[in-house]
Amino acid sequence: MRKLFRRGHLQTNTAAMSSKRIVIITSGGDAPGMNAFIRAACRAALHEGWDVYGGRRGYEGLINDDFVPLDRAATANRIARGGTFLGTARSMEFFKPEGRAKAAANLHKRGIDALIACGGDGTFRGAELLQAEHGIQVVGAPGTIDNDLVGCDYTIGYDTAVNTAAEAIDRIRDTAESHGRTFFVEVMGRHAGSIAMDVGVACGAEFIAVPETVTNLAEVCAHMHRKGPQKRFIGVIGEGDEEGDATMIAAKMKETYGIEVKVTILGHIQRGGSPTVRDRILASRLGVAAVEAVRNGASNIMVGEVGSSIVHTPLAETFGTHKPIRPGILQLAEILT
Ligand code: F6P
Repeated sequence: MRKLFRRGHLQTNTAAMSSKRIVIITSGGDAPGMNAFIRAACRAALHEGWDVYGGRRGYEGLINDDFVPLDRAATANRIARGGTFLGTARSMEFFKPEGRAKAAANLHKRGIDALIACGGDGTFRGAELLQAEHGIQVVGAPGTIDNDLVGCDYTIGYDTAVNTAAEAIDRIRDTAESHGRTFFVEVMGRHAGSIAMDVGVACGAEFIAVPETVTNLAEVCAHMHRKGPQKRFIGVIGEGDEEGDATMIAAKMKETYGIEVKVTILGHIQRGGSPTVRDRILASRLGVAAVEAVRNGASNIMVGEVGSSIVHTPLAETFGTHKPIRPGILQLAEILT
């Protein structure tokens, strides 16, 4: 049985360990906590006695043979940093069979047995193709601020992003309150309303627009009238709403109801900054879980945390569907906005 001792006192049965060479990448939109993930996966792999590489700029690094050896020192002083020190990209080349063939050839040339990829649905779609076409062992971990992936309660980066957005909206509330103004604040999420819903409830917004529910602007207008004139009114608008983005919805409010709305688009500010403790712990746990999955021969799966357990979800499920918004939060928003 393997026991955990303080480092330097590790008693490891080396005969039971099989030697491996793995590569870790971060891919798609960056998310706070990706550095903590790389650190954890790297250190867990070193603990197994494996060789570890990082691929620079996600799949682009695999295609361009841009690898960097990783050791404890390379992952030191990273855990508190936002972004990803390996870099990331949304690789178009990898979505062509020739791009994946180049990537596979580079992995074979370097004797790399397995790929650990931290990213979102696009990353997992690519990983699944690499496995299917070239037989490479692939394990994914959810790294995106959107929290739109099935197979996990939360994605790495989400907690930091919602806290960043909430802090910004609290500031907007101060000025909105002072002037009695209406603000619509647009938050990220692409096609998923998780960020908007959580931040809207957490900030006491009067209106939350998300793609998963029908947005009724006449009802928003009625709500404003119930509050009365010159009263603070905050709307949180998630990307992907069927009425359009915050600027478009504000224009409709002006045109249809003559209501002046100030618009703030939070944008990429939500993707930066030092990860929260919750994100660092999640990333650390999933980094270790990804290595355990590789060690146990799992492939074509994403590791995720559900409740207090680690679960494996087939990659195809992660990009086949989007996680619905938690029913509990929708009910809260209904009662509290
Ligand atoms: O998927 C993460 C995300 O930040 C989405 O919320 C957003 O729609 C998108 O990425 C923005 O992508 P980019 O940084 O490539 O413009």
